[in-house]
Amino acid sequence: MNVSPAAGCCIGVFDSGVGGLSVLPALRAALPGARLLYVADSGHAPYGERGEAFIVERALHIAAFLLSQGAQMLVVACNTATAAAVEALRQAHPQTPMVGIEPGVKPAVALTRRGHVGVMATSGTLASRKFQRLLAAQPTHAAVHLQPCPGLALAIERGDLQSAELRAVVRRHCAPLREAGCDVVVLGCTHYPFAAPLIREALPGVALVDTAEAVARHTATLAARLPASNLDLPALQLWSSGDPAQLGAFARRWLGPDWDVTAAALP
Ligand code: DGL
Repeated sequence: MNVSPAAGCCIGVFDSGVGGLSVLPALRAALPGARLLYVADSGHAPYGERGEAFIVERALHIAAFLLSQGAQMLVVACNTATAAAVEALRQAHPQTPMVGIEPGVKPAVALTRRGHVGVMATSGTLASRKFQRLLAAQPTHAAVHLQPCPGLALAIERGDLQSAELRAVVRRHCAPLREAGCDVVVLGCTHYPFAAPLIREALPGVALVDTAEAVARHTATLAARLPASNLDLPALQLWSSGDPAQLGAFARRWLGPDWDVTAAALP
């Protein structure tokens, strides 16, 4: 069989916790033969209310681990870590292709008919210079309503996507966006797609935008330049700095039976 280099490459992906798992299906669809290595920093989640220095330190540690496991490029599948640390990662690993994730404000502004777009994200993402620059670059025909969502990633991280706690946090954060008349809402944190059914319930008729597919397309473009890595290794490996069993259970539920899930403790 003729395997294209991108099909056999090895991609390191990480997030503060389970959130980045929401990006894996799009990555696999774009790069069906790639090996995916995933780190959930659940022992230190959530990142949303942490300081930048802490996130940079964690990101550098995790990146070094993923590269030591054979990753040829890195996907920062966390909006908060991208805002805080992607520049530091690029400086530390100038030869490693690096893809970050940012809230999809641009596609949301293009989509709105009412002229009111909501952005749900962590406080860290919304306060970051990177996000403020992204916002300043948008056309001004739409009002963009920023909704920090403290507690939301943590409630998702706990793993019960039907819990009363999660429903209450979703309702609390969605209410201002409903009152503002938003018809498009950006899921600006990779954890939030797991709560999409509850968010849809709280914001009926509102279009939800996430950037997993855009990130996967960009990753595939950069991966096309990589040489093939060892194809005999597992297609997916997961590590957690929290409870690997919990990460494995969450991943099995979300990714489904087509994925062979094994999760270990992050050394
Ligand atoms: N999943 C992360 C993001 O995309 C952050 C959640 C958190 O740890 O606060 O922003």
